[in-house]
Amino acid sequence: MAGLVIVGAGPIGTMAAEAAVDDGAVDQIVGVVDPDPRARRELVAATGAPGYTSTVELPPATPGDAALVAFASAAEKVAPEVIRLVSAGYDVVTTCEGLAWAPRHLWDAMHTSARSDGRTIIVTGTNPGFVMDRLPLLVAGASRKITRIHVERHQDTSDRRPSLVAKSGRGLSQTEFAEGVRSGRVGAKGLDSSARLIARGLEWPFNDVFVTIEPVLDGDAVIGAAHHARLSAGPGREIVLDLVMAWGIEPTFERITIDGIPPIRMETIGGLPGDEATVAHVVGALRRLGTLAPGFYRPTDIPIRYGVS
Ligand SMILES: NC(=O)c1ccc[n+]([C@@H]2O[C@H](COP(=O)([O-])OP(=O)(O)OC[C@H]3O[C@@H](n4cnc5c(N)ncnc54)[C@H](OP(=O)(O)O)[C@@H]3O)[C@@H](O)[C@H]2O)c1
Repeated sequence: MAGLVIVGAGPIGTMAAEAAVDDGAVDQIVGVVDPDPRARRELVAATGAPGYTSTVELPPATPGDAALVAFASAAEKVAPEVIRLVSAGYDVVTTCEGLAWAPRHLWDAMHTSARSDGRTIIVTGTNPGFVMDRLPLLVAGASRKITRIHVERHQDTSDRRPSLVAKSGRGLSQTEFAEGVRSGRVGAKGLDSSARLIARGLEWPFNDVFVTIEPVLDGDAVIGAAHHARLSAGPGREIVLDLVMAWGIEPTFERITIDGIPPIRMETIGGLPGDEATVAHVVGALRRLGTLAPGFYRPTDIPIRYGVS
């Protein structure tokens, strides 16, 4: 019996719990961890699993158990929880944006802990995790002598989860928006991770990634955020990522432009529904857990499987 513990009973944890059982990736939900009593209660009621306020209270895993960690974007916050779960015997899938390209010391700590406990940790998601890194890298395989990769994503936040709308800065004054960006409360996380994942996939050496976040305005009102990331990999080689997340914008799309031989330009029509796609990636990652050697896997470390992931 493969059981799944949900750590973070927000929209992603909740949707993934249902999808993982529905798709047969796990047999049942065996625990719900969330300090928020309302969120915890709702998922406990929906799954029949016991609820916990912290991972400290969880019983050790039984063979085959995994945990989905979906509660925060910051690597420093999530990595200690992942290590605790691994020590308790759980394989881990996480949607934590900051772990898509974990700081070296955290990567070392998680990889070492996974290897010594014989467990697997997979970081997955849509952005980062797919649309601005894995997908462009796959497309780049059809081109050579690449000098530039540019990925653009325009998302309408009006049908997205509340935490994403809050991160986009909608409803803030321009001063509050600037303060939010400085404190890290405003702005999507993980654009720098995506740029680094692409550079690593292309085997391009690089130093740093420069990210700017500006408000998207409708008159004087802030309706979202425009993120721009640029990674330079020496003369004539760069990766540029532009992510706009704003309320009610049209059109919505993802566009990949590759300068190489041949040049490639690809665009999704209507854009990828991010939350549903993230849930699909989580279910796919749960299925892959038993097939990979113990260790820590960034989104682009997972070998590609064609068809069902
Ligand atoms: N890579 C991707 O493409 C991708 C896509 C979607 C989501 N994500 C990330 O996945 C995570 C989940 O998304 P979401 O929208 O469901 O988040 P959310 O709405 O913020 O919900 C997270 C839940 O986790 C709870 N929580 C806080 N600290 C916790 C802890 N230490 N242990 C267990 N639960 C805790 C929160 O409680 P409180 O409300 O009391 O804090 C909240 O109920 C977020 O970090 C999000 O950014 C990534």
